[in-house]
Amino acid sequence: MSKSQPILVEREPPFAIIALNRPKVLNALSPALLGALCEALEALETEAEIRVIIITGNERSFAAGADVRAMADYSPADVLRADTLSYWQRLRRISKPMIAAVSGYAFGGGCELAMTCDLIVASETAQFAQPEIKLGIMPGAGGTQRLVKAIGPYRAMELILTGEQISAKVAYDFGLINRLVPVERCLDEARELARMIASRPLVAVRLAREAVRHGIENTLREGLEVERRNYTLLFDTHDQAEGMSAFLEKRPPEFKGE
Ligand code: CAA
Repeated sequence: MSKSQPILVEREPPFAIIALNRPKVLNALSPALLGALCEALEALETEAEIRVIIITGNERSFAAGADVRAMADYSPADVLRADTLSYWQRLRRISKPMIAAVSGYAFGGGCELAMTCDLIVASETAQFAQPEIKLGIMPGAGGTQRLVKAIGPYRAMELILTGEQISAKVAYDFGLINRLVPVERCLDEARELARMIASRPLVAVRLAREAVRHGIENTLREGLEVERRNYTLLFDTHDQAEGMSAFLEKRPPEFKGE
């Protein structure tokens, strides 16, 4: 893929790495970048040897948010026409686990993109913010909802109403990120997590992830229903029989992903 592409995709089965690639504008999320990201993710969905997807930026910036230059003169009709919401809905529908590996700025849509992932690995240089309020707008790609779920309503409200950033250390203390590592270690830490998840039984990973995400997006009752349904379904898989036999026979399991 040429260097001028808005994203770069590397396959390292059992995972793939998508690097956002608009370094001159700190990986601002233009419609072209979001479209390319969705297409790449949807292509990876169909590739059986790819079990986990890592999304990253560069050392200076994960992503500094939506492309302000592209939307500065927008009317409400232009916002609707640009239809960036549909990209975010496509991102939400990806069924493989996604890990954000964040160094530098995760601002606005960048923070929202990280939160669309299932796990966030961050370097000590990472900074998180929802600075939209300083531009006279507000988060529009999940920030008002996901940040509340991730760090609680009071902390989220402060970040959204002030637009101020938090360091990786504070983000870690708030529970926004899973791992906090030196910058040179960030991608490798994400790779290790990806490998570990990929080694687990595929169907159980999918159904467990679905239950967690369903619960985040719906009521406790609905989440519990999906949990019970998926839990029951797993007793019809090879990997459940194998996992339990291997445990009882005190040997390592040989999962088939079915
Ligand atoms: N959109 C477009 N261009 C951006 C950008 C963005 N979100 N963020 C940075 N850039 C561009 C800058 O304009 C600059 O370009 P030029 O060299 O042509 O001037 C280049 O990237 C480097 O940026 P800075 O010189 O500003 O770098 P810095 O290190 O001094 O500051 C920063 C970094 C604090 C992240 C600052 O760039 C900044 O505040 N960016 C905007 C962040 C923001 O407001 N994001 C929210 C966008 S709205 C949104 O995301 C809505 C949504 O929820 C969907």
